[in-house]
Amino acid sequence: MTDSNRENEVQRTAQRYQKKAYASSYKQEYLDGWKLKNLRSRLIARAEIQAIKKAIEEVQLRGSVLDIPCGTGKLGRTLSSYPVSITAADISPEMMGLARDEYDPEKISDFIVCDAADLPLSSSSLDSIVCLRLTQRLPVEYRGRILAEFRRVARKYLVVSYSLRSPWHDLRNRFRWTYDRSNPTFFPASRSCVENELKEAGFEIIRIRAVLPMLSSQVIVTACVSAG
Ligand SMILES: C[S@@+](CC[C@H](N)C(=O)[O-])C[C@H]1O[C@@H](n2cnc3c(N)ncnc32)[C@H](O)[C@@H]1O
Repeated sequence: MTDSNRENEVQRTAQRYQKKAYASSYKQEYLDGWKLKNLRSRLIARAEIQAIKKAIEEVQLRGSVLDIPCGTGKLGRTLSSYPVSITAADISPEMMGLARDEYDPEKISDFIVCDAADLPLSSSSLDSIVCLRLTQRLPVEYRGRILAEFRRVARKYLVVSYSLRSPWHDLRNRFRWTYDRSNPTFFPASRSCVENELKEAGFEIIRIRAVLPMLSSQVIVTACVSAG
């Protein structure tokens, strides 16, 4: 893939969620409906939330947390159930518009429209960052920029999802791409790639958890800021 193709994918990922109708259907897909696609999204969303809860409890996440990309607020209720103060951020105001009611007003401190690679936040200004479902849509170079921003802003923990490469999921993705070319490009990463990216950005991996092994290639990585 050329540099300009990679840049196009970053733009496509950012623009895809800017329409109100798309944002509504994204939210509806993981919340209700009995179509096969919705059922799969609901199962995966439930498993994602369980994996995020385990990560939060494992590190006893407290204090200030950035939920990016917050999307339509999938993690709003979960994060609000912990003693944290939440900043929710996303590049799409339309997605964020549907997230606003999902957070406990007592727990939310701000909603920010921004690019994860250019956070309008001071260095070391937050305890932790949760990043669900962004890295798999972005090429490795852009992920590096985002992780560097996360490291600049976070003092303690990062909980981040990746799509982990495996022969089974590569086959599934090739099949999905064949029957639906509107599917955006996927950027799965090998386990060693995930480990290197996080290490280079200044994070130490605590645990990698699979979300739903056969149905989804997604994993939730819990990491802490490296000492020194
Ligand atoms: C698949 S959704 C995930 C949202 C939410 N975390 C969830 O699991 O439902 C991807 C989100 O990433 C946002 N996004 C795309 N590119 C972004 C960027 N460069 N910086 C911040 N948000 C971005 C989109 O607007 C969209 O809301």
